[in-house]
Amino acid sequence: MPVAPYIKDLMTSSSFIRRMFEEGIQMKTQFGADKVYDFSIGNPDLEPPAKVKTVLQRLAASTEPSLHGYMPNAGYPQTRAAMAQKVSIEQGITVDFSRIVMGVGAAGAMNSVLKAILSPSDEVLVSAPFFVEYTQYVRNHGGTLITVPSKEDFSLDITAIAGALTSKTCAIIINSPNNPTGKIYTEDEIIALARTLEQHREKTGKTVLIIADEPYREILYDNKTVAPLFPHWKDSVIVTSFAKNLSLPGERIGYTAINPSCPDAQELTDAIIYATRVLGYVNAPATFQRVVAECWNEPVDYSLYTQRRNILTSILDKAGISYAAPEGAFYLFCKVPQCLSQPDRSGDDAAFCDHLKKYRILGVPGRGFGKSGWFRLAYCVSLASVQNSEAAFIQAASDWK
Ligand SMILES: Cc1ncc(COP(=O)(O)O)c(C=O)c1O
Repeated sequence: MPVAPYIKDLMTSSSFIRRMFEEGIQMKTQFGADKVYDFSIGNPDLEPPAKVKTVLQRLAASTEPSLHGYMPNAGYPQTRAAMAQKVSIEQGITVDFSRIVMGVGAAGAMNSVLKAILSPSDEVLVSAPFFVEYTQYVRNHGGTLITVPSKEDFSLDITAIAGALTSKTCAIIINSPNNPTGKIYTEDEIIALARTLEQHREKTGKTVLIIADEPYREILYDNKTVAPLFPHWKDSVIVTSFAKNLSLPGERIGYTAINPSCPDAQELTDAIIYATRVLGYVNAPATFQRVVAECWNEPVDYSLYTQRRNILTSILDKAGISYAAPEGAFYLFCKVPQCLSQPDRSGDDAAFCDHLKKYRILGVPGRGFGKSGWFRLAYCVSLASVQNSEAAFIQAASDWK
């Protein structure tokens, strides 16, 4: 059976991150895992909290009937109640369990939301650089992703967003802490965004949904916090997962929280539940719904990421590579250094990432996030790997000049 031509095209043009990840696996087989500095993918190297294993062991030994059966498509009521408690704390308003829909990771939750809201030719805005899979997720449901450049410091460019809003704009995705920049949007930026959307509504009668994608909400540096969204814009949802904070990316467990003040909250919730079903997810994984209901507030030592960030930034300083200091998440977004001997290579992120490979360093070109001239390093790798990469970075940067 031939593959659809447009899927063939998309497969070749999509995700630099996955390509690099797969190249990393090959290089590790060839050279040995400790000889490859693989900063390609956001696959956390911290182990999940010990309680995850304890709960799993208890569940494995349990004789409770229907432990592995279907449950309501939105998820187990006790899991939804636990997530509602979490969201209520984060947002500073009471969110009832009925406004939570469990999802198959943040990606699955995002797809359920987009399926629920998009009509053909609708547009979804995002501030670039951005997590590139959004392009495919929006396209999955007949929409078009419109990218709006951020300001130089990677904060939201509210004027540019205002200029990009059209009668077709259905939603805007905000991701804070951001992948790939580590930027956290301030409460003032959220308020300014809400004001802009209100002006757009007054002018066009069109309401834009804010979709906050927040899988990195807990991974913060230097006493930073993530501002709440729900009090500022009623038409809003949060999609997230336990992939990054609890190091459970392979278990595909996340959820959507719907703002209880949204005038269409019930209809939107029902549509997201429906979308979860008909997209073939049916429901989020049963066992891990039970795990996160008990483990969502387990303490995790994120200072281990701070330590990796500090070591990697000091290595980059020595190598003369500049970067945006991350406020959260575990990515360093770095500027491709100048290449004085071949000026046409200056700013060529794909050429620079190819160059880094010669030193067994894997990073992802910024064009994979809608921002050429930059590259991303994911430092959710072992401390030894970060430390041992120093000579390779210094040599690679020196040979690039
Ligand atoms: C910004 C962002 N959103 C969503 C996802 C997908 O997360 P999940 O694995 O929970 O689907 C990722 C994964 O890296 C991400 O970086």
